[in-house]
This record gives sequence, structure tokens and C-alpha cells, in this order.
Amino acid sequence: LDNGLARTPPMGWMSWERFRCNIDCKNDPHNCISANLLMQMADRMAEDGYLEAGYEYLSVDDCWMAKERSQMGTLVTDPERFPNGMKAVIDYVHSRGLKFGIYGSVGNKTCKGYPGNKYHMARDAATYAEWGVDMLKFDCCNPGPNFVTGFEQMGMHLNKTGRPILYDCALAICMGPKVDYNLVKKYCNMWRNYEDVEDNWKYVFNIIEFYGKNDKNFLEIAGPGGWNDADQLIVGDFSLSAGQQQTQIGLWAIMASPLFMSVDLRNIDPIAKQLLLNKEVLAIHQDSLGIAGRRIWNINDYAVKLESWLRPLSPKGRYAVGIFNKNVGGLLQTVNRTMSQLGLTDENGYTMKEIFTGISYGPYKLSDSLVIKIPPTNLFLAVATPVTEKELIVF
Ligand code: DGJ
Repeated sequence: LDNGLARTPPMGWMSWERFRCNIDCKNDPHNCISANLLMQMADRMAEDGYLEAGYEYLSVDDCWMAKERSQMGTLVTDPERFPNGMKAVIDYVHSRGLKFGIYGSVGNKTCKGYPGNKYHMARDAATYAEWGVDMLKFDCCNPGPNFVTGFEQMGMHLNKTGRPILYDCALAICMGPKVDYNLVKKYCNMWRNYEDVEDNWKYVFNIIEFYGKNDKNFLEIAGPGGWNDADQLIVGDFSLSAGQQQTQIGLWAIMASPLFMSVDLRNIDPIAKQLLLNKEVLAIHQDSLGIAGRRIWNINDYAVKLESWLRPLSPKGRYAVGIFNKNVGGLLQTVNRTMSQLGLTDENGYTMKEIFTGISYGPYKLSDSLVIKIPPTNLFLAVATPVTEKELIVF
């Protein structure tokens, strides 16, 4: 979407994966979707380095509303969980230097049964703008037959408000196999195109497979203004090993997917925090060329399950290289691949720096091999830099 936003893939925090539709503030006041939860996350993002690292949107998902609209037809925030209304929360979030994301749905109802935006789009866009909303996640539960038009209409109404509002569409996931990514990119700044992530390796793995297959070349369509959204990061949650967390954020960075954490930032494991704040991973993610990486080979034998990804980086000639051991069990997987086999082409050869270990490799000629071992479900993530003419003399 050509609205000046999302020139690089957006980053932030989203309530859904970790806090779901927990509306039970009576019994679980610390974890329910409420003003307190959002304000506490805003504090953590502002004070613990996340905002500084680039995570700028604080985005509430489903279940923030009252069950009914007002008599005038406007959207109403749940009065008990948000005693001062949503605008007060948004003002607070802004005072912390963050941007605020809200959630709506193209149909009559949201996925959890709260009021949808159908028949109210102009009014709702105006309400969002009045409150100071900076992003809308537009879901497609209960979509009805003309939902594509609904997404277009909502975008038009957001645009009419004159307020820059990042438009996050769950559109592609609704269109099923018929999805037209060019259309989706025209309407939206980011779009989900696969199932919801859950806090479990299997889900992360299936998303990686989907992006690896890259049906309809959706990765080629991504670029400044519009990005494929592989869904929230579950880094720091309950299920992934330290290595699997690196795999998720590393491949999300290569795929140029938006990075929305969904984790309790008030109580996060220090290793996960360090990973979320890893400057070199985020530099790959935010690279100014804005080209999404792709899987360049994929071995799916009985014993060897391995794949390799490549994302072009600026300045021209550099690449992010991801080698992923897809095996869930067993041995460390030995990788023995020449630079050419990794998709690299500069005649002068390359040096590589692995991001998670800091280990340097090379210089290698194009015919030289990188030889490494990768544990099951882990990712080797490196930046490959061409050897310069000057270095070549020595090398
Ligand atoms: C479906 C979406 O895919 C999720 O990310 C989340 O927004 C839920 N709906 C909320 O009901």
C-alpha cells in the first residue's frame, strides 16, 4: 500500500498469541486484555530497549471491545477493563514514544464475537483516527461474500481520515488458494497468508515450510510498503528451545516478515530478550534494499533434512545466508557446501560472520566449501560479504 508507511517491515508487540482473549480481569487481573496490561507493556517496551531497537507498535488484538456498539453505533471499549476508555490508553502509549495498533474485522463480528466493522467502516475509521490509532489489524472472520471489497473499503476510509494508519490485513489468509497478492499489496501494508502461530515448534515449522514453498511467488511481491506477515514471534514464550527461538527470528528476518513479539515483557527470560534485541538480526530484518529472502534449496531425504535461504542486503553484494537443519531429532547435521552452492556469485569470494555465535568464516573462493555442523531444528545465520579487491591481493 502506497501510503508512505512500512518502508521496512514493521516491528512491535501484539497481544494475541500470548494473551489471547483473556477477559477475566476478576480472577486473572495481571494477564487479562485491559488498559493495565497495555500500559505495562508500553512501559517495558520504552524502558527495556525494545522501542530503541525498533519495536514501535503496541498492538491490541481481539477482545478489547464491549459486546455491543453504543446506541449511536460507535465502537465502545469494554468499560470495566478499560475504565478510562481507549483514548486514554493510546495517549499513554504515545507519551512513551510508541505507536498504537487496534483490531477490527471485515465481517459482522470479530473471530471472538465482538462487533465487526461491516456497515460501520466510515464511522469506525473516524473513531480510530479521533483516538489517535496508528495501525489497524483487520481480521477476516465471518467475512461474507464481498470481503475483498470490504478490505478495500476499510483502507479507503482509513485513508480519508488523513491520519497515517498502518493497514495490517488478514486478507490473504481468507482468499485461500485464489489469493491475488498484487491486489493484496495494493490495499495493505502487511498481510497474513498462513495459519495462526501457536506456542509450539510444529506451527513455526509449518510456517517456514509455507514460506519455503513460496507458492505464487509471494516473497517476490514483498517490498517497501507491503510485507508478507508470517505471524507473531513466540520468542520468550513457553515452548521453543533457545535454538528454535533463533530459528524463528532469524528466518523471519530473512523473509522480511514483520516482527511482532507476543510475549510477557514484564517477565521475560534474559536470553530471549537478548535475542529479540540482537542488532545484527534486526539489521538484516530492516535492510534498506527491502528484498525478502527466499529458500534456494531444500533436501528432504530420510536422513538429511536441510534447507538454505538467501536474502540480498545493502550495500549491494552482501547477503544474509540461513541454513536450517529441519530434522527434529538425532545428530548434528554436517553441512558441506561451496559458496556457489549457497547461491553466492561474486568472483572475488566471500567472508562470513555467523550472527548467533559471532564466529567468522573464510575468506572463501566461490568453489571453497563452508563446513559446519547444525543441531536439529537450529539455524546457521550469517552475513556474507564479498572480498574486496584490496583484500584479494592478500588472499
Ligand atoms: C485470527 C487471527 O489470525 C489471529 O491472529 C487473531 O487476530 C484472532 N483471529 C483473533 O480472534
